[in-house]
Amino acid sequence: MAFKSLLFFSLLSAAMVAAPVAEAQLGLIGGLLGLIRIQGTLFCTANGNMGANGTATPVFPNALVQLQCGGNVVSTSTTNGSGVFSILLDPLSYILSSLLTGCSLKVATPLASCDSTLPSLGGLLSSLQFIGNTTLGALLSVANIIPAGFRFVPSN
Ligand SMILES: *[C@@H]1O[C@H](CO)[C@@H](O)[C@H](O)[C@H]1NC(C)=O
Ligand SMILES: *[C@@H]1O[C@H](CO)[C@@H](O)[C@H](O)[C@H]1NC(C)=O
Ligand SMILES: *[C@@H]1O[C@H](CO)[C@@H](O)[C@H](O)[C@H]1NC(C)=O
Repeated sequence: MAFKSLLFFSLLSAAMVAAPVAEAQLGLIGGLLGLIRIQGTLFCTANGNMGANGTATPVFPNALVQLQCGGNVVSTSTTNGSGVFSILLDPLSYILSSLLTGCSLKVATPLASCDSTLPSLGGLLSSLQFIGNTTLGALLSVANIIPAGFRFVPSN
């Protein structure tokens, strides 16, 4: 009996300790579950952006997109068949304003892999742009970030 109640209190205090930790890990902001989402579409053009042909511009699938902060790769994503990449970050580990000023997106896969007439050396680079928050349902708030515009960097 004594053992059982000891076990019960151990479990109870473990649960009491676990609750705030879980909240912190999920990034709750003012009762909302917060996330930072960096999303964009990569095109198979000399600068990675949509060309003169608009939505008819071919996309760049299977490209490795790196989020770099202060020269370090902190997260990666691969573009899907539609050229779309998406990186989700916990807002407790990343302050929005410092992400926007101190981080950039780098495409590590050479352009030649989607079009052999494009360079096989060098890469694409873009700074980040915050476009607003969206609330999904009653609980989730997402800070949306997009690439401000890619440019070709000849050597890396
Ligand atoms: C736009 O499409 C036409 C016809 O497919 C093609 O010849 C041309 O090179 C394209 N222009 C660009 C900038 O992609
Ligand atoms: C790529 O991802 C986007 C965004 O999640 C989605 O809308 C699109 O359908 C995906 N395309 C493919 C080919 O999976
Ligand atoms: C977006 O949400 C963040 C917190 O997640 C907040 O700091 C920021 O002020 C919000 N920005 C806008 C434009 O609503």
